[in-house]
Amino acid sequence: MAAGAAATATGATATAVDTAAAAAATAATTAATTATTATTATTAATATADAAAAAAAAAATAATTATAAAATAGATAVEPDAQPPARLPTPPAVLIPGCGSAYELAFLSEAGWNATAIDFAPATVAAARQAVGPQWQGRVLEADFFHYQSPVPLDLIYERAFLCALPRAMWPQVAERWAALLFPGALLAGYFFFDNNQKGPPFGIAREQLDALLAPHFALVADEPVTDSMPVFEGRERWLVWRRL
Ligand SMILES: C[S@@+](CC[C@H](N)C(=O)[O-])C[C@H]1O[C@@H](n2cnc3c(N)ncnc32)[C@H](O)[C@@H]1O
Repeated sequence: MAAGAAATATGATATAVDTAAAAAATAATTAATTATTATTATTAATATADAAAAAAAAAATAATTATAAAATAGATAVEPDAQPPARLPTPPAVLIPGCGSAYELAFLSEAGWNATAIDFAPATVAAARQAVGPQWQGRVLEADFFHYQSPVPLDLIYERAFLCALPRAMWPQVAERWAALLFPGALLAGYFFFDNNQKGPPFGIAREQLDALLAPHFALVADEPVTDSMPVFEGRERWLVWRRL
């Protein structure tokens, strides 16, 4: 996805964020699989050094890809003969609600993003801080998504396995909160799980229901298949990007 030179500053930044976010999240899938394994192991107090090292290595690879994508996206928004920035001109501010192990936090932060991860479970926050290490642990906050106020305007909310972790009755509240946290033009991007399963979590959503839920506040700008899902989501999730109206 490329922004033309005539794009407005806001549009160009949003497109850059959009592109970088998609690339980062796609690159993160490998890390996610490994990191989730590590998270499960951590929860059971049996995490091994090997699993942690593998997760860190995968995250580092994802960070490199994300940085390259950010540079490419940034380059499309400047004069053709200008030097492309190594990074996005302004670090995009991204919120990761219901972060779990917060594996995305480290690679987005290493790619120069202003990333914050929140979770309301104290034990999860403690494990996430340990997982991301001393450099980024201050960016993992114990907070309830429904009450969290961002100190900076958010460019992006990253969704993964948060909506589907909550009871279906709460989904309208989630959508309202996503909308309240984002200014017009900002993005909601992530993996959405589609299913009509009765037992959960994860609780799948019908495509029409998601569209109806988000239509009052968001326009869909990207919709792509996911080819390397974790088994629990395999064949039933898509990468979607929504722009706040
Ligand atoms: C299924 S996990 C997903 C973790 C992570 N996003 C991932 O993809 O691995 C859902 C997380 O949401 C957190 N959570 C649920 N309700 C929340 C709320 N109201 N505020 C913040 N975190 C919440 C849970 O504690 C849990 O860690």
